[in-house]
Amino acid sequence: MEPELLDGLAAEDPRAQRSRDDLRRIHRAMATLSIVQRALDRGTAGSRPRTLLELGAGDGSVMLRLARRRATRWPDVHATLLDRLNLVAPQTLDGLRQVGWTPRVVAMDVFDWLARPDDTRWDVVFANLFMHHFSSGELGRLLGGLAARTRVFLCCEPRRSALALAGSHLIGLLGAGPVTRQDAVSSVHAGFRAQELSDLWPDPQDWVVDEHPAGLFSHCFLAIRKER
Ligand SMILES: C[S@@+](CC[C@H](N)C(=O)[O-])C[C@H]1O[C@@H](n2cnc3c(N)ncnc32)[C@H](O)[C@@H]1O
Repeated sequence: MEPELLDGLAAEDPRAQRSRDDLRRIHRAMATLSIVQRALDRGTAGSRPRTLLELGAGDGSVMLRLARRRATRWPDVHATLLDRLNLVAPQTLDGLRQVGWTPRVVAMDVFDWLARPDDTRWDVVFANLFMHHFSSGELGRLLGGLAARTRVFLCCEPRRSALALAGSHLIGLLGAGPVTRQDAVSSVHAGFRAQELSDLWPDPQDWVVDEHPAGLFSHCFLAIRKER
């Protein structure tokens, strides 16, 4: 793992704002939303989630795009956006309300959030380009805490592969700025492959767990609690 430049920049730093614009473009190029929707469909298996939590949600743009695609099938969702920085613009919150979802922003470090006593059981917790920020010790704590708080967890992360590494060096072709160009390479080095997340997920007998490559550059992990 190498520290990512974006993590060291203040929210209002123009380099950070440029990098978040880049991320929105990169998600479109990587078809993140389609990958997340496929995993959500498997995770929810036709049932309608009422509560969604996105970890490391950034500016909330992925949640908003998801809401616009899903609100007809999934009305009245309570959508919580957790990030250590408060980056969600009022227009993004308005967009979520306009489709009938109820947004809430939690500006908090994920480990502080995990340390709070909380017996909420989320229908779905998900994350994009977030889990690779953490060491395996931190991931073990994070996944253990999530297993106690959700019925479904999914994440879409960089794949640690030669192809993804080559792609990360070419990210400038999408117009990405210097922060994103460096972070893209770091994030592939810190990414995942094989069953690395599954091996850290607790109590496998209580869960259906699946971990697989997705698209050209992504790695997807899905855990679904077995109902008793
Ligand atoms: C690479 S960005 C991805 C943002 C968004 N998920 C996306 O895909 O566009 C990682 C996000 O995780 C947040 N983050 C990093 N470490 C965190 C922590 N310990 N607790 C909460 N948020 C964190 C950062 O502030 C940043 O917004």
